[in-house]
Amino acid sequence: MWSKGPVDLRTYLRTKKAVVDGALETHFPEANGPSSDLINAMEYSLLAGGKRLRPILCMAGAEAVGGNETHVLPVACALELIHTYSLIHDDLPSMDDDDLRRGKPTCHKVFGEAIALLAGDGLLTEAFRLMTTPELSDHVPPHVILKTITLISEAAGYRGMVGGQVVDIQSEGKTLDLSVVEFMHNHKTGALISASVASGAILGGGDESQIKAIISYGRKTGLAFQISDDILDIEGDSATMGKESGSDEKKGKITYPAVIGINRAKEVQSELVEASIECLRVFDHKAEPLRQIARYIVERKK
Ligand code: IPE
Ligand code: IPE
Ligand code: MG
Ligand code: MG
Ligand code: MG
Repeated sequence: MWSKGPVDLRTYLRTKKAVVDGALETHFPEANGPSSDLINAMEYSLLAGGKRLRPILCMAGAEAVGGNETHVLPVACALELIHTYSLIHDDLPSMDDDDLRRGKPTCHKVFGEAIALLAGDGLLTEAFRLMTTPELSDHVPPHVILKTITLISEAAGYRGMVGGQVVDIQSEGKTLDLSVVEFMHNHKTGALISASVASGAILGGGDESQIKAIISYGRKTGLAFQISDDILDIEGDSATMGKESGSDEKKGKITYPAVIGINRAKEVQSELVEASIECLRVFDHKAEPLRQIARYIVERKK
């Protein structure tokens, strides 16, 4: 729980990440039997590292509305499973064709393309099983869980992330209007980030106006997050990020810096962060982690 005193975001992120990592590490059974390669591949990518930003946002969303962050842990973990699936598929030779992820060779490099594809499928499906666990329904009424599952399904599927990924793939090497790039970023990345923080607020018992404010916060930080990912691809250090820099230019990807220039992209990102924090004005100190996370998103080095 966030105290009213001075804030230390690094400690907050480290503590929350440890909770998420602990839950993810014990989730899958020991891999033996005929499908063990699949389980090994899912765990390889899931446990390779990662900031766990989406689960942390889910817990911080619950906390902001006065909810219990531990109760939302199954959904927080489900969001990380969905995110990890998206990374495995994003790295495939038929998509971004990347060799390094979370500081390790990508899933398909180690297990082959077919297993990597199936590992993504397995993680995505398991996420939905996780959201129906009794550990969640023991604390949250069924209609609230259903509302959350609808929100996350929309954010992950063709209405959200997958809908953004198709624009990303089809626009390689082309010129795009900023409005289309904004659509792409809002969908491929913003949607799941927004759903992460909103699901926490819904499960945590937030009222309609609180949820609306949190969704606006999530959309703005989600877009800022993908812009900062674009900027890091140019300015970031591969070893720190755990993924190759310069990958977007090589593939002719349409990014914010490519369309509006890096300086303007940085300005847009800062404007989004300030606007996202403004969305939280109705909240008290319990939303302080969300405010700090918004700033961290553009200051991060990985
Ligand atoms: C990378 O996401 C892919 C995008 C949506 C930009 P993260 O930067 O959150 O990656 P991990 O989870 O920390 O590895
Ligand atoms: C990824 O965008 C969005 C996803 C839904 C995975 P990028 O392709 O820019 O992500 P990185 O840079 O490979 O992590
Ligand atoms: Mg991509
Ligand atoms: Mg990529
Ligand atoms: Mg990128």
